[in-house]
Amino acid sequence: MRDILQELETRRDQARLGGGVARIEAQHAKGKLTARERIELLLDEGSFEEFDMFKTHRCVDFGMQDNKPYGDGVVTGWGTVNGRMVYVFSQDFGVFGGSLSETHAEKICKIMDMAMQNGAPVIGLNDSGGARIQEGVASLAGYADVFQRNIEASGVIPQISVIMGPCAGGAVYSPAMTDFIFMVKDSSYMFVTGPDVVKTVTNEHVTAEELGGALTHTKKSSVADGAFENDVEALYEVRRLVDFLPLSNGEKAPVRPFFDDVARVEDSLDTLIPANPNMPYDMKELITKVADEGDFFEIQEAFAANIITGFIRLEGQTVGVVANQPMVLAGCLDIDSSRKAARFVRFCDAFEIPLLTFVDVPGFLPGTGQEYNGVIKHGAKLLFAYGEATVPKVTVITRKAYGGAYDVMSSKHLKGDFNYAWPTAEIAVMGAKGAVEILYRAELGDAQKIAARTAEYEDRFANPFVAAEKGFIDEVIQPRSTRRRVSRAFASLRSKKCSMPMKKHNNIPL
Ligand code: HXC
Repeated sequence: MRDILQELETRRDQARLGGGVARIEAQHAKGKLTARERIELLLDEGSFEEFDMFKTHRCVDFGMQDNKPYGDGVVTGWGTVNGRMVYVFSQDFGVFGGSLSETHAEKICKIMDMAMQNGAPVIGLNDSGGARIQEGVASLAGYADVFQRNIEASGVIPQISVIMGPCAGGAVYSPAMTDFIFMVKDSSYMFVTGPDVVKTVTNEHVTAEELGGALTHTKKSSVADGAFENDVEALYEVRRLVDFLPLSNGEKAPVRPFFDDVARVEDSLDTLIPANPNMPYDMKELITKVADEGDFFEIQEAFAANIITGFIRLEGQTVGVVANQPMVLAGCLDIDSSRKAARFVRFCDAFEIPLLTFVDVPGFLPGTGQEYNGVIKHGAKLLFAYGEATVPKVTVITRKAYGGAYDVMSSKHLKGDFNYAWPTAEIAVMGAKGAVEILYRAELGDAQKIAARTAEYEDRFANPFVAAEKGFIDEVIQPRSTRRRVSRAFASLRSKKCSMPMKKHNNIPL
């Protein structure tokens, strides 16, 4: 009997070694952790339960029948993150370069099916040379099976991808369809076609890092939502993110204990807005001063910084924040910021996370660059996303809310539940200078007259009271009491019920 029990342990030890000691050492030499070490860091200690530890590939070509390592290059199973269930797969670069075979795909699909059935997020730790070359179309089919599950799971359970090594070719499209992608600096890359093909086809000379490294995808392409220094930091931050999210669309986000007075008064916010309306200020100061314990998990920090997106908690409950950032491009909306915020708003709406919007927007960014690249369609994404969102929506206009951008930024007209303004708010079709230049073109030569016209316009519109008179602003609030006001607003909306007309699905301008 003892021999039989011992055999299990021997086989387990063999499976845990993956591709062998030398490959584990090679992985460490690259500054990377192994597939199992990553899972240990991601999950609560001792919580991992593995599936299919002894599964092997079925390939008999190219001598593969003589090399059948246990697990087939991916470790799969479930565990907990701060006590809450998640499913995980972690590709093992030490086994055939983490490449995806038919059976490797079956393992991933199994945990995805379990995650859908039981309502828990899937976290994929990607480190793979792509399709298992020896398996040909069987491997491509395996990818497609994963893709189909990514699509079906979208909006049902949160899906998080961490890119911790190569991710190339069609393999990139599984992470691309998940909710969040995080990358590790210097050791991960993603591209559809690698540097060699790029050189042959376009004669561009580019390194893998330049083409698809973490900085490229967080700053230029916006494919990735965050870049971290190393495996340890990336896994720690994913744990932090999971704490903000519901397990599925059937559940609310977790309520965390909080140690911050909900009525905390922040006197410094009364002087956040500079006297000169053209001077910038840091909108992140407002976000962190409103948040429980100042805790803010930012999404896409390095991309389109003219808009800020991320998660905070109010009274321990998760809230998605979208805020114009006057420090970058004066907080204008443009193609990139509209796309970034629209995707974030849709994620929050899909998972019943309430939305808090801070507005200081002078309008849409003008120029041929914007128009030729379709700012009309891209700007419409954000408009559409806010308008279709049925979660509680609380908006605070801190300063400018000009033109179409006023409408877009979770205005009353897009079914905003609470629309607050600070006394410093200016709600108008455009700024005073632009308006006077159009309305009084004939007087432009007369500086005195123009100054008087500008003062008149400012007097009329550079305040929140015209909008408040019409009921478009529910209340003008003191900046210092913003945390209390928005927290109470969300508290009053906890049993909000709002639905859209029945349809197969909408046709958001893609
Ligand atoms: C089978 C693979 C493999 C693959 C790597 N290996 N990729 N085995 N299929 N796709 C094996 C190698 O043979 C090697 O085995 C071991 O993994 C480590 O690989 P190295 O090349 O030594 O590692 P490194 O130098 O770090 O380079 C990593 C790499 C490179 C850049 C990922 O291996 C590479 O370019 N691989 C091929 C990538 C690729 O073209 N994949 C297909 C993409 S298209 P030994 O035994 O020698 O150590 C795709 C389509 C998906 O994925 C379609 C979905 C619709």
